[in-house]
Amino acid sequence: MNDELTLISGTANPELSQRIATYLSIALCEVDIGRFSDMEIRVRISENIRGKDVFIIQPTLAPADNLLELLIMIDACNRASADRITAVIPYYGYARQDRKDQPRVPISAKLVANLIQVAGAHRVLALDLHAAQIQGFFDIQVDNLFAAPILLEYINKKNFKNLTVVSPDVGGIKMGRAFAKRLGANLAIVDKRRTTADASELMNIIGEIAGGDIIILDDIISTAGTISQAAVALADAGAGRIIAAATHPVLSGGAIERLEKSPIEEVVVTNSIPVEKHDGTLKVTVLDVSPLLGEAIRRIHTGESVSSLFI
Ligand code: R5P
Repeated sequence: MNDELTLISGTANPELSQRIATYLSIALCEVDIGRFSDMEIRVRISENIRGKDVFIIQPTLAPADNLLELLIMIDACNRASADRITAVIPYYGYARQDRKDQPRVPISAKLVANLIQVAGAHRVLALDLHAAQIQGFFDIQVDNLFAAPILLEYINKKNFKNLTVVSPDVGGIKMGRAFAKRLGANLAIVDKRRTTADASELMNIIGEIAGGDIIILDDIISTAGTISQAAVALADAGAGRIIAAATHPVLSGGAIERLEKSPIEEVVVTNSIPVEKHDGTLKVTVLDVSPLLGEAIRRIHTGESVSSLFI
């Protein structure tokens, strides 16, 4: 099967792409990705991919050049007569504006879906989309994987006492409930009200947390304002050890400094986005999602079930 499967990496997370290639025991396809002198992106697929089942790996984190690079790579593969093109998007950026909940706002998650389709992708393989309904923004097939088994395997090894899984907003309750069930833990929610797009204000904790250990669970840590403020509120309410877990380490706008100052003792994330090393005392554990993505790619290629990965 490997003769037909072609793996192409963008420049957003080459280490993850290499790990996926290693999992699949194949070499990444040679691609020349460069810049014109005015910094426009220039792409050339260096190998023949005519008739191939192509998977392009590119998380679309900021800057938007990562998204543009994905679109240009999809176009290049189409024009090179690839048989099928799957956009493998470990982190789907521009997802947070996913509904028109205020006047005069875009639905950027839908706009990005349109762009990916128009570029010529035949399928999408994503990981923990910010909202499950983003799958419906596409008219092509979408597989949305969950990092939960990988996060849970790590968390299960920790010696927690009287554990409560805390969702830092109502949007994360479903994920929080699933984790709590698997861990035999309680569930609590922090009722958060946002003041501006990048600042949040906490209201109150719904659920009993006093004395017990806490995992604050979210899909994204961006500025870390949400989880840091949740951690402070939980510590004030008498929580024991506090750990934060999230799939996507966006870590922007002073996130690490904010986490360092918070009562959080460890942050557990995945390598859906590259995490830069930092010098502080905060423990950041990065779990590898390449076996999950690699196995899903293998199954899509061979026509096997992907959902059975999560049973
Ligand atoms: C919000 O809906 C998301 O689930 C995250 O809570 C949010 O993106 C985290 O952002 P920040 O780390 O900037 O508070």
